[in-house]
Amino acid sequence: MSLRLGDIAPDFKAKTSVGEIDFYEYLGNGWGILFSHPADYTPVCTTELGKTALLQEEFANRNTKVLALSVDKLDKHAGWINDINETQKVTVSFPLIADEDKSIANAYGMIHPNASETFTVRSLFIIGPDKKVKLMITYPASTGRNFHEVLRVLDSLQLTANYSVATPADWKEGEDVIVVPAVSTEAAKEKFPKGLNVVKPYLRYTPQPNK
Ligand code: BEZ
Repeated sequence: MSLRLGDIAPDFKAKTSVGEIDFYEYLGNGWGILFSHPADYTPVCTTELGKTALLQEEFANRNTKVLALSVDKLDKHAGWINDINETQKVTVSFPLIADEDKSIANAYGMIHPNASETFTVRSLFIIGPDKKVKLMITYPASTGRNFHEVLRVLDSLQLTANYSVATPADWKEGEDVIVVPAVSTEAAKEKFPKGLNVVKPYLRYTPQPNK
């Protein structure tokens, strides 16, 4: 059975570009993003890892640790990281997991045999402080992910966790958010002193609470 939202993310120990890591220990009480890429020394992956390195401070500001994974060997990762740093003008300091035996890839369902028998597809998991899977997205090998969208979802997930609000379609940081159905309108009036716009009993907006 493959992983589903709300499931506990499998723990693992792994060889990585920054040493051996115990996944849960590494995440601590914060949020985590684990994403797979098909292979080292490939063009789309090079840009993705470069972009992730560029956004490292954004992830840190959100108390989120990022880990990348492929089934390549550790010594291959080392040379490729030099290339990423050179071509993308970054310093990759987050861990690249060398999942040679594919045990992590299999536990997370990152290998889709009808796409490739051997390589991981572009899977991405956001894991909450409770170690539950909050988001899963899967891209094909040929499409690089939008890491600004990953940050946007992370912001939305953290707003939901901290303030009982949801975010509407195409929501962007600073825009109004939606009060979740579990909060009554009476309770919402108290909980959200910045104001409540009741469009329908089930559609209630309030200014972003942490702004
Ligand atoms: C890439 O990562 O660049 C890539 C991998 C497989 C197919 C196409 C692109």
